[in-house]
Amino acid sequence: MIIALNHKDNFNKEEFLSYQEKMKKLDFTSHIIMCPTFLNINLFQLDKLELGAQDVSKEGNGAHTGEISAKDLKNSNVKYVIIGHSERRKDQRETYEDIHKKLKEALDYQLTPILCIGETKEEREDNKVEEVLKEELATAMKELSQEERKSIIIAYEPIWAIGTGIIPSLEQIDEVIKLIKREYPMCSVLYGGSVNQENIVNLKQLSSVDGYLLGGLSLKPEDLQIFINELERQ
Ligand code: PGA
Repeated sequence: MIIALNHKDNFNKEEFLSYQEKMKKLDFTSHIIMCPTFLNINLFQLDKLELGAQDVSKEGNGAHTGEISAKDLKNSNVKYVIIGHSERRKDQRETYEDIHKKLKEALDYQLTPILCIGETKEEREDNKVEEVLKEELATAMKELSQEERKSIIIAYEPIWAIGTGIIPSLEQIDEVIKLIKREYPMCSVLYGGSVNQENIVNLKQLSSVDGYLLGGLSLKPEDLQIFINELERQ
């Protein structure tokens, strides 16, 4: 199972170092990827976890104020990068054309993208989930080779489920994951949005899911350990 931890904009240096001490005691067999803030990336020191970033520039190095390139991430030992998180799509008006360019940059530097897709509440109510997700994936993945596609992890994160405490039914998640896998059978698919140490008891029944992208839960090592114990329990 893949567990990706998205810290978002949390933990200053001291907080991150003390969190990291707690995370050293974590007991798990899953494949865990931690995506701290850019400022904490070079403080990462957890042997059993892998390092990810929360975003990447769509350009290379150069005159791009405030950006961080795939090349620089690679140089800081980053292996994974979240691309197209809905908070960036909303707050930074990131489009799937931008996301496509970011995917290309990441792939050019052998970073594994965690590509986020997901519908709004209105799109679900209007029965547009399939149409929206297919369009997001087609735009993001256009012109990529089979080999490039194979290395992409897709995270299905319904926007209405992120940070809200509301999660879709098992049937709704299963339906979407299977739809994605029909179109992109080479990709691993994660579910993200309000996953916690309690609802994992139900979620783990879904054999179509290859792992989880965790926001709020990623900040709490004790709850994360409870989540992992439940997920890994047969
Ligand atoms: P959440 O966030 O787990 O806090 O809902 C998930 C995400 O934004 O990736």
